[in-house]
Amino acid sequence: MEKFIIEGGKKLSGRVKISGAKNAALPVMSASLICGGKTVLHNIPDVRDIRTLIKILEYLGASVKFEKNTVEIDPSGVCKYTAPYEFVSTMRGSVCLLGPLLAKYGKARISMPGGCVIGSRPIDLHIKGLKKLGVNIINEEGYIVGRAKKLKGNTIFLGGNFGSSVLATANIMTAAALAEGETIIEFASCEPEIVDLAMMLKKTGAKIYGEGSHRIRIEGVKRLKGVEYSIIPDRIEAGTYMLAGYATGSSITVENVVPSHLFSFLDKMEEAGVSFKTGKDALTTRKLKKWKSVDVITLPYPGFPTDLQAQMMAFLTLSDGISTITEKVFPERFIHVGELNRLGANITLDGAKAIIRGVDKLKGAKTMASDLRASAAIVLAGLAAEGETEVSRIYHLDRGYEKFEEKLTSLGARIRREKE
Ligand code: UD1
Repeated sequence: MEKFIIEGGKKLSGRVKISGAKNAALPVMSASLICGGKTVLHNIPDVRDIRTLIKILEYLGASVKFEKNTVEIDPSGVCKYTAPYEFVSTMRGSVCLLGPLLAKYGKARISMPGGCVIGSRPIDLHIKGLKKLGVNIINEEGYIVGRAKKLKGNTIFLGGNFGSSVLATANIMTAAALAEGETIIEFASCEPEIVDLAMMLKKTGAKIYGEGSHRIRIEGVKRLKGVEYSIIPDRIEAGTYMLAGYATGSSITVENVVPSHLFSFLDKMEEAGVSFKTGKDALTTRKLKKWKSVDVITLPYPGFPTDLQAQMMAFLTLSDGISTITEKVFPERFIHVGELNRLGANITLDGAKAIIRGVDKLKGAKTMASDLRASAAIVLAGLAAEGETEVSRIYHLDRGYEKFEEKLTSLGARIRREKE
């Protein structure tokens, strides 16, 4: 295992290029299975979750080439329909193979994702949607096993107790692209990653309307062709670097971003009194010593993203006053609180709400990473803290941040990777 050693308190400066969005790449790469020919995808981040999905696609029989952020997927050799536990347990996102496998081959066997540190993470909405399309689904020895002769379009309400579901929308939209007749998804996710998937599917010949709204209509077609497509930039990675800039009182520029994907985040930053400059595809943070406390509520897009909640909390530990963060998407996603407090933060929890009393400074300490975004939050706090911070178990970060320490080092951060 590896760890990061961070020498905190250093100012950052310069420009950092944001990679392609992992959460768009995963469903788009999975959807390439339903295409009649080879699909070429650009701007794919070289992170562990993508490497895991490639292993699963190869295990299924697809031929995959991944070089310089471009992946070529030829599904013609697919002859297996199982995503085994060893893969799914390390990457919950593999659930987005369900829809494509069922649509193209009429069968799928995916290990049940189970819980993880951010909560119980059920998949009832995926199952409900697929059943409505005519799939027969059973739970067999820890696997969801689905079979269907021919998928048939239907009207499906996909809302759950926590709002819409991103990957359930991805699964149903992809499956419906090859179903017979019309499918309407009510309470669909509006996330930019879903719009990206719809754009790619449309290029393959799918008939999809209304992506980006809560109502998506799909007219099923008989076949889809392989295409070339480029994935959107990662809005969560962009937000993470901006928060690294703010938390260290530095001016940095993040490039290759779509500012409109970050509206709710940028709006909150303005409320906190920190400003930024917007370029065509770039955002620049401004140097500040102190910022105001704010109340944040995470919500599905276009609300404040749950995937930036932990990093935002790291930033707010140094605010002037008392901030709150209420987690409405994954109410148990607070594993980072204890680690931030080890660095001198003052955070208490009241159910799904964190109360963050701003402190004047953080101090380096030994910490442990526990999930992808929680780990990023600890690194940000470590960069802002005085002295040395050790972050162990950084394999979580490698799941979703491409060249994290290289990019931070290029901004002037003192961070190095060591064996534990
Ligand atoms: C995706 C993202 C993840 C992000 C999350 C919310 C990927 C690979 N992952 O995960 O990074 O944090 O969106 O923006 O894109 N739910 C149910 N039943 C279901 C499915 C979900 O109740 O069948 C609940 C979840 O427990 C959660 C909420 O719905 O409370 C939203 O989850 P969902 O949007 O499905 O998250 P994912 O798509 O798994």
